[in-house]
Amino acid sequence: MSTAVMEQPGQSGTAEPTTSGMITVTFRIRRFNPEVSADASWEDFTLEIDSKDRVLDALHRIKWEQDGTLTFRRSCAHGICGSDAMRINGRNRLACKTLIKDISPEKPITVEAIKGLTVLKDLVVDMEPFFQAYRDVMPFLVTSGNEPTRERFQSDEDRARFDDTTKCILCAACTSSCPIYWNDGQYFGPAAIVNAHRFIFDSRDEAGEQRLEILNDKDGVWRCRTTFNCTDACPRGIEVTKAIQEVKRALITRRF
Ligand code: SF4
Ligand code: FES
Repeated sequence: MSTAVMEQPGQSGTAEPTTSGMITVTFRIRRFNPEVSADASWEDFTLEIDSKDRVLDALHRIKWEQDGTLTFRRSCAHGICGSDAMRINGRNRLACKTLIKDISPEKPITVEAIKGLTVLKDLVVDMEPFFQAYRDVMPFLVTSGNEPTRERFQSDEDRARFDDTTKCILCAACTSSCPIYWNDGQYFGPAAIVNAHRFIFDSRDEAGEQRLEILNDKDGVWRCRTTFNCTDACPRGIEVTKAIQEVKRALITRRF
C-alpha cells in the first residue's frame, strides 16, 4: 500500500519477524518525475516481505504490485554490473547486495537516488558526467610496437600492485559519496582515479605519464580531501582513498 508523505523520515513501528521470517516493512522512497512535478517528494510503500530478501527484491515487489511507475536501474541483480547504486538509509549501497534484515527494518527504510548527479526519474540519475570522467583517464591498456604473438608476461608482484583497483564495477557509489564531487561536478571523482590507477600501476602499460598529467589538472587528484567516504561506500571493498593517495605519490615522485 502506498502513501505520499510530506517530509523526511519519521519513525513508525513494523511487525516483528514471524516464524517464517516475514516482516512488515515501510520503504520511504524519494520520487521524482519531471513530467508530473518539478519537485521531488517522499512516498511510503508498505509490504510484507522476508527479512532475508534484498532491497532490490522489495523495489521489484513495489513496482510489480503497487506502482508500476517506480523507476530504478538494475541488471545482474548479483553485485556485478554496478547499475543499482542508491542511497539506502542515507548511505550509498547496491540494492541487490543489501539485505533488509541488516538495515533496521523496524523503522521506515529510506531509498533515494545517489547524490551529485542529475536525477532523471525516481532512483535513476544521469551517469554521463561520471562515464565521461572515466573515459578521460584512458581506461585501457596502451602499448607500442607490434602486436604480441603471445601473452605479455607480468610477475605476481607486478600484478599485485593494481589488483585492488581491477575490482571496480563502475557503480559510482564512491564518486557520489564524495563531498567535493557534490559541490563541484568538475572533479574527476574517485572512480575515475581508481580506474586510472588500475593502468598507471600496470607494468605492461606505457601511458602512465599521460594519465598522471590528466590527473594533475585542477580538477584532478589534488581536489581529494581524504575524507574516506569513497572507501566506506565501495561495495567491492576497494581501498579507494589508498589508490588516490598512491596516484598523488606517483605524481610527486614520478615513480610508478
Ligand atoms: S571504486 Fe568501488 S564504489 Fe567506486 S565505482 Fe568502483 S566499485 Fe563502485
Ligand atoms: S543489479 Fe547489478 S550490481 Fe546490483
